[in-house]
This record gives sequence, structure tokens and C-alpha cells, in this order.
Amino acid sequence: MKKLVVLALAAAASLAHAQAPAYPGSKPVTFVVPFAAGGPTDRVARDLAEAMRKVMGGQANFVIENVNGAGGTIGAAKVAKSAPDGYTLLIHHIGMAAAPVLYRKLSYKSLEDFEYLGMINEVPMTLIGKPQLPANTYRDFENYIRANAGKLNIAHAGLGSASHLCGLLWQSRLNASDAMVTIPFGGTAPAMNALVGGQVDVMCDQTTNTTAQIEAGRVKAFAVTTARPMSNHKLLKDYPTLQEMGMKGFELTIWHGMYAPKGTPAAIQAQLNEALKKALKDPEFIKKQEGLGAIIVNDKRLDPANHKAFVASEIAKLKPVVEAAGKFAD
Ligand code: MLT
Repeated sequence: MKKLVVLALAAAASLAHAQAPAYPGSKPVTFVVPFAAGGPTDRVARDLAEAMRKVMGGQANFVIENVNGAGGTIGAAKVAKSAPDGYTLLIHHIGMAAAPVLYRKLSYKSLEDFEYLGMINEVPMTLIGKPQLPANTYRDFENYIRANAGKLNIAHAGLGSASHLCGLLWQSRLNASDAMVTIPFGGTAPAMNALVGGQVDVMCDQTTNTTAQIEAGRVKAFAVTTARPMSNHKLLKDYPTLQEMGMKGFELTIWHGMYAPKGTPAAIQAQLNEALKKALKDPEFIKKQEGLGAIIVNDKRLDPANHKAFVASEIAKLKPVVEAAGKFAD
């Protein structure tokens, strides 16, 4: 009798397993990008979606949904509140650490409300200006900023965005933190259009969005935010680091990661993490991203637990720095 019960249970279990539709099946998987289309976060998501489609055997259909506003916190909140079924994922960046420090009231918790699926890349930033700016070196640029305190503006993608954080840190090191009026956009793609058009004066943005504009002469570049010069990059090797320009210890690179709502089934998390690992080794993905100055992370940095611990350390690192700059959002 007992054997019969065991056999029946085994059959039921295998039937249930057989009935569970394979993930993702024909239903599209949405990458929520918390900034406007065309910006650096959007760029990472689109390049990654293409690579993930390939490694998941082409049957997986990834679609991008741009949900911008409030420095990426609106898009992140949307994913935190989405069904934990593997069909709504977040592609985000250092904002996962900056927002908890900058916003007094945030509708989600970066460490508790998401399943961490892995880190993707690191992207340096460049300090750039509108083409009409009467400066060609970083020294001229800095002197011009000081001589026109209060008259110039700096664009960013909202409080807690990478461009906002870079501008904040740079201005606080300039010891002229009120030198510029800050102008928020839904992402650094619209901000870049305003800069190229001369409607705003300065921006700090990721090389994945600025390299083409610098190369085309549509904006002026003055410095990079890496600790060491980008000597391997054909274009960016010509620009000094902010450390070389006297800002001791200044270093900022923007990391990107992939996240799911808390409670997403472990099997789906593991499947997405495996696919991510393979996608980051896709030659096409690497060529696109490295061509724009991005650095693809290795498996150790990609690892979800390591990435989550890294984000926690970034929150701890940014807290005193942002408090020193004294700019918070309600
Ligand atoms: C940022 O500044 O956080 C991003 O560059 C915004 C974007 O991806 O548009």
C-alpha cells in the first residue's frame, strides 16, 4: 500500500512539474529602465536585452519600458511593487544606493524590496559643456565656472541619478557648491539635447552617452571621473582625471545591475542569473559596451550576493558624502 502512495505522490509531483510552463515561454519579459529612452541606462538595457535573447535560445522576448522621473525612483518603485513572476525586471545603477541616501521618504527599500540578479558593468563619467562654452581645458573651464558663480546651470537626470550625484560631488569639491543652478530632466538623453543646443551649460554624464557627442564636436569635454586616466580609450585618453586636476581622491564610476521584485521564485532568479552570465560574454555585447568606455564585470562581481553586498557598501560610502553636500529631497 505504502509503495502505491509513494508512486502516486511521485506521479503527482512530476505532473505538476510538467504542467508548470517553462519560463519565460512566449510572454515578454519587461526590462524597466527608470530613465528616458536614448540615455546610458536605456543603452545598457537594450544591448543586454539583445544578448539575453540570444543566450536564452531566442524564444525569450525582452521588451524595454522607460519609466522616468524623480531620478529613477519612479521606475524602481514600479518594479518593487510588480508581481514577483520574472516578467518585470529593473535595469538600474548607482541610484539604487544614492536614492536611499538622498530621499527622506522613498517608497521602496533598495536592499529589502528586490532580488539581486547580478551586476552588469561599470561606466566612467565625463564632465562636459555646451559647444559655446569659452573654455577648452579643464583649468579654463573651472576658472570660468568660478568667475560666473550663480549664472551657469548644470543638467542632470533627477535627484539620485548618476548625473546628479556626479554634479553634486564635483561642485562640493569645487568649494563653490552654489555656483550653478541645477536643471533636472527625465534622463540624460533629453539633457544632452539641451546641452548640444546650448540651452544648458554643463553636465556630468556616462561615457556611453557622451563619447559619440564628444567625438562629433557637439559638446566639449574637460575631464573624466576615473581614478586613473582612460589611457586605453582612443578618445577619452586625451582628457585628465579630476584627481589630476587637484580633486584628491575623486573617483566615480557608474555600475549597472539587474533586479527583480522580492519573492521572485529562486528557479527563475537562477535562470536569469545564468543567462546574464552568458550574455556578458557575448562578443557583440562586449564590443558595443567597451567601445563606449564601459567595463563589463567578471563573474565574481556579477554574483548576486556580492553585488548586493557591494550596493550596501555604496550606500554606507555615499551617506557621509551626500550629508556633507547637504542636498536632500523630501
Ligand atoms: C543618470 O544620470 O542617472 C543616467 O545617465 C540617466 C539616464 O540613463 O538617462
